[in-house]
Amino acid sequence: MAANPVSFEEAVALLKAGEICAFPTETVYGLGADATNSGAVLKIYETKKRPRFNPLIAHCADFGMARSIAVFSPLAEKVAALWPGALTLVLPLRPEAGISDLVTAGLGTIGVRVPDLSLARDLIAAVSKPLAAPSANPSGRLSPTTAAMVRAAFHDCVPVLDGGACEKGVESTILAVDGNKIVQLRAGALPRSVVEAATGMPVEVAGEGAEVLAPGMLKSHYAPRAHLRLNAESVEPGEAYLGFGRHEGPSGALNLSPAGDLDEAARNLFAMLALLDEKGATGIAVAPVPDEGLGEAINDRLQRAAAPRDGN
Ligand code: TXA
Ligand code: MG
Repeated sequence: MAANPVSFEEAVALLKAGEICAFPTETVYGLGADATNSGAVLKIYETKKRPRFNPLIAHCADFGMARSIAVFSPLAEKVAALWPGALTLVLPLRPEAGISDLVTAGLGTIGVRVPDLSLARDLIAAVSKPLAAPSANPSGRLSPTTAAMVRAAFHDCVPVLDGGACEKGVESTILAVDGNKIVQLRAGALPRSVVEAATGMPVEVAGEGAEVLAPGMLKSHYAPRAHLRLNAESVEPGEAYLGFGRHEGPSGALNLSPAGDLDEAARNLFAMLALLDEKGATGIAVAPVPDEGLGEAINDRLQRAAAPRDGN
């Protein structure tokens, strides 16, 4: 491939021509393709080795574009008022919108998101099509939060638009608006409490009595190569330590946030796990992280990273 990272104009040209191109968002880097072009979307699945039953999020430049592909109930509109942001809504698909079946994996619903990073919205607006984009990592591995991580994950075979390090560091919160209920399918960078405050409605959690599930919520996911041990207050022989706040571990150990700040910890999570993996750690002991606010998404990713591998 020619020079990588690619320029904004090159990214637009690639995406318009039905090629894939990774791009930054405020959460993690996405592996993008024109959501209306099945040939282009197929390249995402092949490049990631992603199971075809696992649908993709369609990224939109603004609410108008989102409304052209999904049906918004009054409640969905209320939740969508939190856009742009780290929030994906699963809503009924407008079949006439021309979205490839590969994006929805044949479901009657579609995941839509208007990202907060203006570079991402500018890119989508310039292509003038919704961009299907999963996180830009091989299926089951850590999500990338820098262009360098994307390049390393795909051995520099995927063009990347470089927008610097992602501000949030964990993926978007996924909510299904189902009748008069809001159901969280995936904890993410927008805390549930923010949605509850904005809508005045409780947010149910999928799996805790709620019926809808995201096909992609496999038990083992976001995995580094090293084995993870959670809620660890000290290291065992052969382990590297990943600290949080006052749980610092041995001197020189990485710390998600020495100040105990959950936003900072989310930002550092995937990059620090990747760094420890690169250094060849066979085991990583991770300090306890409180389960409030963004801690819910951090602990969700840590538990999946620690789970026995599903092999995908
Ligand atoms: O922050 C993010 O959400 C990042 C950036 C790039 O936007 N994207 C991301 O995509 O994390 P991905 O593909 O790694 O995760 C999307 C999740 C999957 O678990 C998938 O099953 C679920 O969204 N999903 C997508 N469409 C769905 C639908 N129609 N119904 C239920 N779940 C859906
Ligand atoms: Mg992913």
